[in-house]
Amino acid sequence: MTGTGAQTPRALVLVGPMGSGKTSVAQAYSRLTGAEFVDLDQRIVTSHGPIPEIFAREGETGFRAAETEVLRTALAETGTVISAGGGIVHSQQNRNLLSGAFVVFLSIDRQTARQRIHEAASRPMLAGGDPMDVWQRILEQRLPLYTQVASVTVDARSDTPEELAAQIATSYAMNTYRAEHERSAP
Ligand code: S3P
Repeated sequence: MTGTGAQTPRALVLVGPMGSGKTSVAQAYSRLTGAEFVDLDQRIVTSHGPIPEIFAREGETGFRAAETEVLRTALAETGTVISAGGGIVHSQQNRNLLSGAFVVFLSIDRQTARQRIHEAASRPMLAGGDPMDVWQRILEQRLPLYTQVASVTVDARSDTPEELAAQIATSYAMNTYRAEHERSAP
């Protein structure tokens, strides 16, 4: 990038429901572009222990506090692609933090989620009923929030992680170019 108006590009964050492939698409994006892969859930596990244990110990509130902390830290880093947990859009605080980022919403349907979610036990949010019914109910609550934070929405039902990563790379590059162009326009 050249010119005096050059700024740090916006952070790239993948959001979407459980099973939307955020982690595998972010890893594919990292392989494609060299961006450093950051998994927020993994960072939480590293500092606070396994997610089911955090929920058992501190409830969802404790987990959400840890999630906001790792999101804030990750957004301050550069050259990364961030895979967020499905509930990242839950709080207004997180949505405010995400408003400065380039947010990609990976959209899937129930049928796709059913094929991909094999380990409901590792996802405490799916407890308390048929996991796919719970998944559906959560998606209905969060859909407006995903849409609200999204810079772009990508249909993640059938393309491979590599194909999705390439689409995201194009979209992110175009957005960055446009923002830079608008800033430097007379
Ligand atoms: C959650 C999704 C999980 C994880 C936690 C809570 C949610 O991440 O952050 O179990 O509230 O939807 P994935 O979306 O990667 O499964």
